[in-house]
Amino acid sequence: MPKTRFAKELKDKDVVNEVFLVKYSAVVQARNGKPYLNCVLSDRSGDVESRVWENAEAAATVLVKGTFVRVEGRVSVFQGKRQFILNAFTQVPASQIEMKEFVPEARCDVDALYLKVLEYARSLENPFSRELALKVLTDEDVSARLRQAPAAKSVHHAYRGGLIEHMVSIAGILDDLSKHYGPVLDRDLLMLGGFFHDIAKLWELEYALTTDYTDEGRLVGHLVMGVELVERVMNTIPEFPRHLRLLVKHLILAHHGELEYGSPKRPKCLEALVVHYVDDLDSKINAIQGFIEKDENPGDWTLLNKMYERYFYKGPKSVSKQ
Ligand SMILES: [Fe+2]
Ligand SMILES: [Fe+2]
Repeated sequence: MPKTRFAKELKDKDVVNEVFLVKYSAVVQARNGKPYLNCVLSDRSGDVESRVWENAEAAATVLVKGTFVRVEGRVSVFQGKRQFILNAFTQVPASQIEMKEFVPEARCDVDALYLKVLEYARSLENPFSRELALKVLTDEDVSARLRQAPAAKSVHHAYRGGLIEHMVSIAGILDDLSKHYGPVLDRDLLMLGGFFHDIAKLWELEYALTTDYTDEGRLVGHLVMGVELVERVMNTIPEFPRHLRLLVKHLILAHHGELEYGSPKRPKCLEALVVHYVDDLDSKINAIQGFIEKDENPGDWTLLNKMYERYFYKGPKSVSKQ
């Protein structure tokens, strides 16, 4: 039976009987010590925060992450936040599911973005930079994954196609900055940093239905995995220059900016510094914009953003001329 209710559309007081994918599920304790089940249900449209107040332990055996469930319940808004309170739930076998109703939608035209990335790669001046970029980006596995991968498990660009959107956005900013600063910055290096800094997220995360870290992602991580990838490809290009090799690896390793954010080296050249700041800027813009967009608090201010420890203003920004 096709779905008629989608997570994104659910509103206060809606009574719902529908199938969802369990994206997250955990038994937690309420302030009075009573356990309840906190879960996130999803479909292709997005997520809805959900709760089971009674018999949480038993509910947890049905509402298992990565499974499909038919749930009955009622939506209510509590402290400005939408909550789906579940009363009944049964598992639905994956064979009865119309998968396209649950695979998250890409928010952008991933094919057009991929062509844009290739256009940037072809614009590199140094033939070694160009060959490296094109070899990595046109690899069959890379090009297929780039059309799917999110850029993160949560926080920024955490949706299908998010990684390539982030890559193209950063490449565009870096391209503009190289025009602004002229010969002070090496454009090829900036662009290589834009393409490669997060490219190993293609394998750091798995994202078929729900997003999670892979074993490789948890044990090695996308900075080191990215270096391994470019090293592998650079080894296939005869006489690849030593300095370019070192600098490309540095751009990837230094892009988190500080040791405590997971970079084993802090940026030691201008291009690495610029890639780090632009990466940080682009991810924050996306994260905060997404937070404001999802916020359900009435009025001009969002609920508290725990990550940035502040309320964001979402009211009118321009004063109309009368
Ligand atoms: Fe990163
Ligand atoms: Fe990034």
